[in-house]
Amino acid sequence: MRIVSNIRRMWRIADEARAAGKRIGLVPTMGYFHEGHLSLMRTARKECDLLVVSIFVNPTQFGPDEDLAAYPRDVERDCRDAEAVGADIVFIPTADEIYPAGYQTDVTVNKVTRNLCGVDRPVHFRGVATVVTKLFNIVKPHMAIFGEKDFQQLATIKRLAKDLSFDVEIVGGPTIRETDGLAMSSRNAYIRPEERETALCLSRSLAIAKEMVDTGERRSERILQAVRSHIESKEQAEIDYIKICSTETIEDIEEIDGEGLLAIAVKIGKARLIDNCVLRPEN
Ligand code: PAJ
Repeated sequence: MRIVSNIRRMWRIADEARAAGKRIGLVPTMGYFHEGHLSLMRTARKECDLLVVSIFVNPTQFGPDEDLAAYPRDVERDCRDAEAVGADIVFIPTADEIYPAGYQTDVTVNKVTRNLCGVDRPVHFRGVATVVTKLFNIVKPHMAIFGEKDFQQLATIKRLAKDLSFDVEIVGGPTIRETDGLAMSSRNAYIRPEERETALCLSRSLAIAKEMVDTGERRSERILQAVRSHIESKEQAEIDYIKICSTETIEDIEEIDGEGLLAIAVKIGKARLIDNCVLRPEN
């Protein structure tokens, strides 16, 4: 496995791989790997010949009051893990390499970024869309894989790739969870032991909603009420949002007809946790 930090070198490797007819797969990350990241790498490994994993804690997707400086990092362990799952290249650029002096170009995906996390994190998706555009241009992948854990991010990247005519297949990977149901996240490192039980209110809410849909409920407000009261019963939990929206446009929907995305964001102490599931009525 090679570690690359320079854009020109990455271009050259990508060009050589393409010239040799190899399929390039990209797994973009901000590092501090857990099984969620590794599962995306394993999926991509099966689908491509050259597996590139990028690690870059992207400053432009953090708001001024967010956790950029505190974001957990362990590049050495990450490289060992990436090698163990068969990555060929770990691309680890510096912030100056990605955003050199004079940098002034942004990519904005408009509608799909407005709801959910876009309400409280107005610059977030612009930073994500910008860095992912750059990574596509640097790594030149045939396919790139993103987790459904960050469903709005996946929807944004799908829109971005379509709208800007990127010749990249965007693949979604399922959310990987701890055995008790908590969705894996690098930010789970912020959860204190005494908050761990409360953190389960997100995944339990998804189960409550699924159960309601399975027994015939289609009205968003009814489902949201049940989820809201479950989370509000936990003293340490502060709801950021609970919404049911279209899986494609990420706009709120009043009734689940076909399918609906239940998306939840909750603050528990220092941690802001998100989780989601697609609700699909049987008939
Ligand atoms: P990061 O939070 O490191 O996540 C990297 C990838 O792992 C994302 O596609 C994310 O959705 C996926 N992921 C996170 N937790 C997961 C889980 N429990 N199960 C499955 N997949 C999971 O998302 C980012 O980085 C950044 O915004 C990035 C796309 C790299 C742009 O900077």
